[in-house]
Amino acid sequence: MSITTTREPLVLGIESSCDETGIGIVRGTTLLANEVASSMDLHVRFGGVVPEIASRAHLEAMLPSLRRACDTAGVKLTDVDAIAVTVGPGLAGALMVGVAAAKALSVALDKPLYGVNHLAAHVAVDILDHGPLPEPTMGLLVSGGHTNLLYVPDIATDVRSLGNTIDDACGEAFDKVARVLGLPYPGGPNIDRAAQGGDPKAIAFPRGLSTKKDLEKHRYDFSFSGLKTSVTRWVATREAAGEPVPVADVAASFQEAVVDIITKKAVMACRDYECNNLMVGGGVSANSRLRALLEERCGKAGIAIRVPKLSLCTDNGAMVATLGAHLVAKGIEPSALDVPADSSMPIGQVMG
Ligand code: KG4
Ligand code: ZN
Repeated sequence: MSITTTREPLVLGIESSCDETGIGIVRGTTLLANEVASSMDLHVRFGGVVPEIASRAHLEAMLPSLRRACDTAGVKLTDVDAIAVTVGPGLAGALMVGVAAAKALSVALDKPLYGVNHLAAHVAVDILDHGPLPEPTMGLLVSGGHTNLLYVPDIATDVRSLGNTIDDACGEAFDKVARVLGLPYPGGPNIDRAAQGGDPKAIAFPRGLSTKKDLEKHRYDFSFSGLKTSVTRWVATREAAGEPVPVADVAASFQEAVVDIITKKAVMACRDYECNNLMVGGGVSANSRLRALLEERCGKAGIAIRVPKLSLCTDNGAMVATLGAHLVAKGIEPSALDVPADSSMPIGQVMG
C-alpha cells in the first residue's frame, strides 16, 4: 500500500512498551499532539513496573488518549495517512495492547502500518525539535529502562547497537539508591536535588566497566549494580556505627560516578567512530550534572549535543509517529499486518 499525498504525511504513533500509554500525531516533522497517560502511580507500592498492571492500564487508557490526541491535533482519524506503533523491545503484554490497537486502526481506516523499534524512535524524535538528524549521529539513551549507545548512520535503515547495560539501567540505579537514602520515587530528580548541596568528591564510588581489561570486552557497555551495592554498603556501615548519613554527599558522589562513566563512554564512542553529533534521550537526560559534564567534555572534544525537550525524551507516542513519518517520507515499505509484538526485538532492527 503506498501513500499518495502531496502534503506531508499525517502520522499517528502509538507507544505502549512500558508504563506510558502514548499517542502522538505529527504532520511530517511538525508535532500536532502528544498525549501521555502514565500508570507509574499504580506501580509505586510494588517498587517497579508490574507487567500485568501496565497492560491493563494501557487497555483502559488507549481510547481516551486516542480521542484526546485527535482533539488536540484538530484532526479526524480518517485524515491520518499512516499508523506507527512500537512493536518492541518492551513488556510483551504491554506491547500487545498498542500493537492490537494499531492493527485495528490500520484495517478500519485502510491505512499502512509501520511497526517500529522503541529505541530508534527515542533517537528519531529529535527531528521534531532540532531538524533532520546529522548522518551519522551517536545516540545515548539513558532512562529507567535503557542505557544504550547507538551508532546511527541512517535512522531509517541503519542503527547499530554499540553498548548496553549488563545489569541495571542507569535510571534504575538512581531509583534504587534513592530508596537506600530514604528519598521518594522516582529517585532521579530527588538525588539530583539532594546532590546540589553535596560534595561529588566526598566518597570515591566505583566506576563500572572502566578498567583497561573491562574496556577490551565491554568498551561501550555499562554496569551500575556494583555501584549500587557499594553505596548500599557505605550507608549501612555508617548506620551500624550509629553515625548520621550525609545524604547530600552520598547523592552527589553517586551521581558523579554515574555521569562520569556515561559521559566518558559517550565521548569515547564518538571519537572512535569519528562522529561529531551526540543525541541524548531518556528521562535521565534531565539530570543537571549529566548535562553539565556532557557540555564540558563534548565541548572539549568538538562534539555537538542535541537533547530534545523533556516531554519528548521520556516515553511518548510522538517519537513513534516521528519515526513513522520519516519512514513514510523515505519511501520505506510498511510492515505486514501480521507483524508481531517482539519483547526482545534486536536493537539494530528499525522496523518489525
Ligand atoms: O524515560 P523515563 O521517564 O521512563 C522510563 O524509563 O520508564 O525515565 C525515568 C527515569 C527514572 O529512573 C528517573 O529516576 C530518571 O529517569 N530521572 C532522572 C532525573 N529525572 C528523571 N535521573 C537522574 N536525574 C534526573 N534529574
Ligand atoms: Zn524508552
